[in-house]
Amino acid sequence: MKIGVARETAPGERRVALVPEALGKLTAAGIEILVEAGAGLGALIPDSAFSDAGATLVPTDELYRQADVIVRVQKPSAAEAVRLRSGQALVGLLQPLLDPQLMAALAGAGVTAISLDAIPRTLSRAQTMDALSSQANVGGYKAVLMAANAFGRYFPLLTTAAGTAKPANVLILGIGVAGLQAIGTARRLGAVVKAYDVRPETREQAESLGAGFVTLTTQIDATGAGGYARELTAEERAAQQAELNEVIGGMDVVITTAQVPGRKPPVLVTAAAVGLMKPGSVIVDMAASALGGNCELSKAGETVVTDNLVTIISPENLPATMPVGSSAFYARNLSALLLQLVREGALNLDPADEIAGPVTITHGGEIRSEAVKKLLQPAGGAA
Ligand code: NAI
Repeated sequence: MKIGVARETAPGERRVALVPEALGKLTAAGIEILVEAGAGLGALIPDSAFSDAGATLVPTDELYRQADVIVRVQKPSAAEAVRLRSGQALVGLLQPLLDPQLMAALAGAGVTAISLDAIPRTLSRAQTMDALSSQANVGGYKAVLMAANAFGRYFPLLTTAAGTAKPANVLILGIGVAGLQAIGTARRLGAVVKAYDVRPETREQAESLGAGFVTLTTQIDATGAGGYARELTAEERAAQQAELNEVIGGMDVVITTAQVPGRKPPVLVTAAAVGLMKPGSVIVDMAASALGGNCELSKAGETVVTDNLVTIISPENLPATMPVGSSAFYARNLSALLLQLVREGALNLDPADEIAGPVTITHGGEIRSEAVKKLLQPAGGAA
């Protein structure tokens, strides 16, 4: 079997799907690795490092002609998607729920689409393959560094001959993978950290990293399925918001990571809350996308400075800003998945398997994912 590593072409994307260190286990399993020339350059990996690790460097046309499986980080561009041929497999963070039309096109072309964002997060046997978590971890770390960079004061308490600097008060909203890493990073920089989430079990996790848990008098337990949160009701949201506004107003830095899968992110930092913040405060909205963000005033991919001089940063692809580390983690996730799926030189995509089942979005000309099928139904159409 030949696995081909494609060069990422999305604007600003610097990651690469496999790194030289990850190739050994795959080649030991009898897999041949092809690498599109220049694929690693964004992650500062020269072509020679791939060939030294046993891969064959090939031009783009050859990659698509020879590979049985094309691996990448992001979904392909339209031009790349049409290069894929029937019987070929594509593996990456394909975001099938955000682009169901691409999945339909791939199914129509007989391409097998396998998406790492569909790996069941709560299954312990799948943890080594959980690319969403490894990338969110990088994101949580980088969000804090960005906030510190934009903040005009120190994070730690500093006593100097020129006076004492008070530590920064940092609030992390959403204590998932990104939030926990953000807590740890802000603490290591010396900030006083508070955190809030609607899943009560996150209190202990936040406290174990040295953050104070924000307890609202409005008690909400929004534990949902699969280790995620459910969407709040309108009453729960209004009660939560009034109390949160007050907490946010006293913060120097707010990092938001709250997301409910497949939904518009909840607004946790309203325009009114931003209005209560002191000049010089910084918000990093990790959940911001074209669908909206956790802050009412954030603009995806942009930095906004409000009239009251609060900086709101909404980075779209933080893992790509740390491509060496994020590619290394992604490559481990991807190779663990490939080793799981490849059996006797072919992909074994048993729909009943608890990993192969959910990650296989299209196969044999069909869309297998029920969620994608549902999105493709005409609005109001019958099942
Ligand atoms: P996660 O699902 O592990 O964590 C999200 C947390 O938000 C959960 O603990 C959930 O309970 C909490 N939450 C949901 N609704 C809430 C509410 N109304 N109030 C308070 N908390 C609430 O997700 P993960 O992996 O930590 O990722 C977090 C976000 O960061 C996602 O939106 C992800 O897409 C994004 N992300 C963004 C990156 C970027 O470059 N901007 C990079 C990586 C991840």
